[in-house]
Amino acid sequence: MIRIKLFISLTLIILTCFVKVQAHDYADSSIISTASPLGWIIKTKSSVYQLTVSKEGRVQQVYYGPADQLSFKQKNALWINSADEIPVRGAFPVKTPLLEVVFADHVRDAELKFLDANIMNVEGRPTLKITQRDTYYPLEITSYIRVLPEYDILEKWVEVKNSGKKEAIKIENLQSSSINLPADVYDLTHMAGDWGHEFQLRDTRLTEGIKTLQARDFKSFVNPNWYMVRPADEKEDTSGSAWFGTLQYSGNWRIDFDKAFNGRLQIVGGINFWDTDWTLKPGQTLQSPKFVTGFTQSGSEGASRALRTYVRKTILPEKWRNKPRPVLYNSWYATAFKVNEEQQLALAKIAKEIGVELFVIDDGWFKGRNDDHAALGDWTVDQKKFPNGLGNLIKQINAMGMDFGIWIEPEMVNPNSDLYRAHPDWVFNFPHRTRHEGRNQLMLNLAREDVYQYLLKSFSTLLNENNIKFIKWDQNRTLSEPGWPAAPADEQREVRIRYINNLYRLIDTLRSRFPDVLFEDCSSGGGRVDLGMLSRMDQAWASDDTDPVNRLLIQYGYLNAFPANTMVSWITHEDWYKIKPTLGYRFDVAMSGVLGVGFDITKWTMEEKNTAKEKIALYKKIRPLVQQGTLYRLIAPYDNDKCALTYVSDDRSSAVVFCYNMAVILPGSTDVSQKPNLLKLQGLDPSASYQITALGNTVYKGSFLMNIGLSWPVNGAYQSKILEVQKVTE
Ligand code: DGJ
Repeated sequence: MIRIKLFISLTLIILTCFVKVQAHDYADSSIISTASPLGWIIKTKSSVYQLTVSKEGRVQQVYYGPADQLSFKQKNALWINSADEIPVRGAFPVKTPLLEVVFADHVRDAELKFLDANIMNVEGRPTLKITQRDTYYPLEITSYIRVLPEYDILEKWVEVKNSGKKEAIKIENLQSSSINLPADVYDLTHMAGDWGHEFQLRDTRLTEGIKTLQARDFKSFVNPNWYMVRPADEKEDTSGSAWFGTLQYSGNWRIDFDKAFNGRLQIVGGINFWDTDWTLKPGQTLQSPKFVTGFTQSGSEGASRALRTYVRKTILPEKWRNKPRPVLYNSWYATAFKVNEEQQLALAKIAKEIGVELFVIDDGWFKGRNDDHAALGDWTVDQKKFPNGLGNLIKQINAMGMDFGIWIEPEMVNPNSDLYRAHPDWVFNFPHRTRHEGRNQLMLNLAREDVYQYLLKSFSTLLNENNIKFIKWDQNRTLSEPGWPAAPADEQREVRIRYINNLYRLIDTLRSRFPDVLFEDCSSGGGRVDLGMLSRMDQAWASDDTDPVNRLLIQYGYLNAFPANTMVSWITHEDWYKIKPTLGYRFDVAMSGVLGVGFDITKWTMEEKNTAKEKIALYKKIRPLVQQGTLYRLIAPYDNDKCALTYVSDDRSSAVVFCYNMAVILPGSTDVSQKPNLLKLQGLDPSASYQITALGNTVYKGSFLMNIGLSWPVNGAYQSKILEVQKVTE
């Protein structure tokens, strides 16, 4: 009986699929329905993900790995044969569950069975939708797999529905995705960090047990939600298998790596339900954020390149996706909180002279904001500092030919503010518990509708009344005591999810009201960079650490997961190691992302201004390559005394190469490098000829540049060189 039902469903699926293929003219066949076994094969350029429906009606993963293995019947001797696509709390607790529910009669076991499936079009991409239903209770779970074949990426997410009429279902855990890797020995790469030390790489062997990466607050300093897993015997940067993933979410998250004794690895990721649950009332649905999972055989660099390109071409807000990010000046390092009209105009005049396109005032412009102890929440201009409002300043900056931008921190409030005095109940709090301050701030409970409406009104007014073309959206503290005493009891633990939903709603509404404004993501540096933010913010401030040597390490890490046209990098006076880096070196480091200037430029000599002018002009010339080209990371700064990156145009006709020396002799080394001192390029056309201006206009074959390599072109500690590479016809 079940078989007949499944056969009928399958026939319907095939028909639906055929109709949809016709209707939407899919150029590919990324999702193929199979009849025997009943199931689906999902293909990207290098990977295959296979699902089948067992005769008991269980939807199971049977393969996720290299595409060329698909034709082998037995793909891996130790392949798991009971990996549910949606592992639940229920029956044998052998896997890490994606879903944990409690029904109204206190039953805590779920039991799912295949209901139907459909291949559909979600925002122009083929998507497999599978619905399963509990065998007794009114619980439906629909899982989606959206395929982006050219990036080797699948987006996975789920929706749970209470299809009953009377009783609620408590969701104690709902992850976005579970995937299973073939049995093997695996190494995990992830990122770690802290304020001023964002995006540091860590490698670890995954032994039996569960390794959890997670965030319990709204910060990603400690570990952005990104990972890469590789078989332990595949070490090449540019070849070999790599599974990678990230979550499109900015709230609490977790990713579990569940390793079994026989080598199987399950990776489960989504919202962190620690101290969270959700009451699903009759008829209601809860949707998880999207989890991005990828597989490539082009090694760790191939994995990062696929992810960066996917973010650049499909995730970033469409309006600015393909537009050049302006060179900006931000006065924070020059004037901190002590801003006023006259001094900002003096800075703006020089900024214009050196080639800046966007002038930004950071913190300190609003009423009573003289340090970080007061005024957050009161979003009106400080009349003492700007007696003419912002209008006059903006008019003059616009007359110089620059756009104007401003800093805001919507989610926080200082207890010393009119807003907090009027609404002490608008912050997260528990009765009888300390309201812990971070940077003298409390966190507004944005889950509340009144808070949302207040913020929307404040910033709509600011943007309506002033010609502001850029917003730097900061967030400077972590979450503590997330209480919401005024909410109904069964909603109180939903507060974190509701906060993030309203945060996204606020940004989205402001963006739709002010479509010409460019948005920058900031959180005490790079404390909240993820695909949830980057689908709403055009660029991100990577770190408050602007020392150029530290920046090389931070930026290299950032580029594991996020594209260069989002990586904002300013040159400032910071010099953590007292090595007196030259202005040219500072510029060369910042020019590999979105260039900004943060010095007190009124103190610059003519020579410094001329260097800045030359560097900014060069940046504008190479900007299309840096911001829209394909990045190949050539030399990692971690165990080297140097670092190199190249950005190549889509048609491979031009490239720019950034070469940096750090210390010239590594601690514990000899006075002669133990590695050949070569620079091998990547991404060029091997049969084409290229000219390199900075190397005396010499012409080289692409194959020579990539396989034989140039002598390392930089001499001396903390020196750098930018090479422009141009295809020529001989
Ligand atoms: C933290 C940011 O990371 C800095 O760039 C600056 O905007 C300060 N906040 C302002 O308070």
